[in-house]
Amino acid sequence: MNKITELFKIQYPIIQGGMIWNSGYKLASAVSNAGGLGLIGAGSMYPDVLRQHIQKCKSATDKPFGVNVPMLYPNIEEIIQIIIEEKVPIVFTSAGNPKTWTSLLKSHGITVVHVVSSSKFALKAQEAGVDAVVAEGFEAGGHNGREETTTLTLIPMVRRNISIPLIAAGGIATGRGMFAAMALGADGVQMGSRFAASVESSSHDDFKKTIVQTQEGDTLLTLKELAPVRLIKNKFFDDLQNLYAQCPTVEQLKELLGRARAKRGMFEGDLIEGELEIGQIAGLIDEILSVKDIMNHVLSEYRLVQKEMQTIQF
Ligand SMILES: Cc1cc2nc3c(=O)[nH]c(=O)nc-3n(C[C@H](O)[C@H](O)[C@H](O)COP(=O)(O)O)c2cc1C
Repeated sequence: MNKITELFKIQYPIIQGGMIWNSGYKLASAVSNAGGLGLIGAGSMYPDVLRQHIQKCKSATDKPFGVNVPMLYPNIEEIIQIIIEEKVPIVFTSAGNPKTWTSLLKSHGITVVHVVSSSKFALKAQEAGVDAVVAEGFEAGGHNGREETTTLTLIPMVRRNISIPLIAAGGIATGRGMFAAMALGADGVQMGSRFAASVESSSHDDFKKTIVQTQEGDTLLTLKELAPVRLIKNKFFDDLQNLYAQCPTVEQLKELLGRARAKRGMFEGDLIEGELEIGQIAGLIDEILSVKDIMNHVLSEYRLVQKEMQTIQF
């Protein structure tokens, strides 16, 4: 038991990050059933679709699960209302001000966690009354901080600044990575990319195969002027680079991005024109695995490293 397993009433301090177009109820319930904490990614769901996923998740697991809510998405009020009505026990908010929804959610008995990419915002989240913070480093898949602080740097700095439980994210896909994050002061880990390449992820098979093929150096953070995001280099990424060479305005960037790029890439499997979000750690992911296998691999490697470290004496 530790602070995170106690807070969420789960067996292992392993959280599956909420991921647009990847983390529906199948992935979230599988992670919760395996002893971690599964999160439904509300960011790519219309309110009625989210409600269906929550209800299906409740039928698929009797363990705690949560919903990830990126606060910059439209329909946010409706989404929060559904979460309250459906009595979701845990909410992870991201991409916005934690002050906005924390007290309302907590007044309904919901455990609230906020995702940040700096110690400054970790402190603000603590002041806003959240129960825990996810500190996400520059390596991570999906949207990211502009300051490029890596997980190795961020975790000890956030640890020094806050007293509430801390979850490390960004670049963790193995037991070794988990051990390292815990050694830096985290109480638990959130993994995204590893679970995106799982059998239960709702993304397109061709996207999952691409994650497996992605090598070290194949992703880059881009679109810093809009919302910084780490993408696999494909044709769409090259088109962006070509536009950047012409010093584009924000409007021109928005125009090229257009609508539904992420859905096109990750959900519909358009590997050429779509937006393919994944973390640097994809370079270490060699297989599409079931959630059960991912959890087993991570936990057994963690225990192995724990023993290994005890034998090293200086
Ligand atoms: C495909 C993809 C989609 C993501 N979508 C979201 C999202 O909707 N909301 C959010 O807070 N984080 C999102 N993330 C970030 C993850 O929740 C998680 O924090 C991150 O993936 C951790 O880093 P890792 O990819 O190195 O494991 C996404 C990540 C990926 C890979």
